[in-house]
Amino acid sequence: MRILITAGPTKEYIDPVRFISNSSTGFFGYQIAAEAARRGHKVTLISGPVCLIPPKKAKFIPVVSALEMKKAVEKHFPGSDCLIMSAAVADYRPVTVSPQKIKKEKGPLTLKLKRNPDILSIIARKKKNRVVIGFALETGGLKKNAEKKLKGKNLDYIVAVAINNKKCPFGDQKIPVTIISRTGKIETLVSDKKSLSRIILDKAEAAKYHYNASKI
Ligand code: C5P
Repeated sequence: MRILITAGPTKEYIDPVRFISNSSTGFFGYQIAAEAARRGHKVTLISGPVCLIPPKKAKFIPVVSALEMKKAVEKHFPGSDCLIMSAAVADYRPVTVSPQKIKKEKGPLTLKLKRNPDILSIIARKKKNRVVIGFALETGGLKKNAEKKLKGKNLDYIVAVAINNKKCPFGDQKIPVTIISRTGKIETLVSDKKSLSRIILDKAEAAKYHYNASKI
């Protein structure tokens, strides 16, 4: 398969040195990319700024902002069989980007933000028989919110990760995930991201096989 994977955070610059972002390490997406390349898939990895080395066999496209990621996904999605959107895309960006470093003043500073486009929902509308897998980080109502995103974003699978304040879900430790399929199958498991990557790719391969078989 030709698999397009997004990973890492996006950075939304406020001025030349400050930005809005999140603590995504990109680890999960890079693990998925490595496993997909190891299985012989043709991998394109679009990544926000992280401190990881992309798999040698993958085509690597570094991006910074959500708008850059959107452009790259739109360019590469048509030539893909599967999109795995693990990036933690910033939902907002500053309305204006100051060309100069913003000077501190005595009073509070108000930043005006605007919504970034939802890359996944825009692109998945045109999925046809491509496999599309999304991720969801939730602090509450995991299953209900993930099911809503699965349907709302037209996904084949959603990988939902629960966040609580005690345990940060970013990094390489074992995490509890709930994987929900388009057909309503729900699986909850606790594992490390390497093993979870294998499970996610097994599902992507099976879904593609199913789409191909139903075309015949
Ligand atoms: O709605 P929420 O942000 O929780 O959805 C998460 C999923 O949507 C992830 O797969 C993420 O990569 C994707 N997403 C996106 N564009 C955004 C926000 C999230 O593609 N602006």
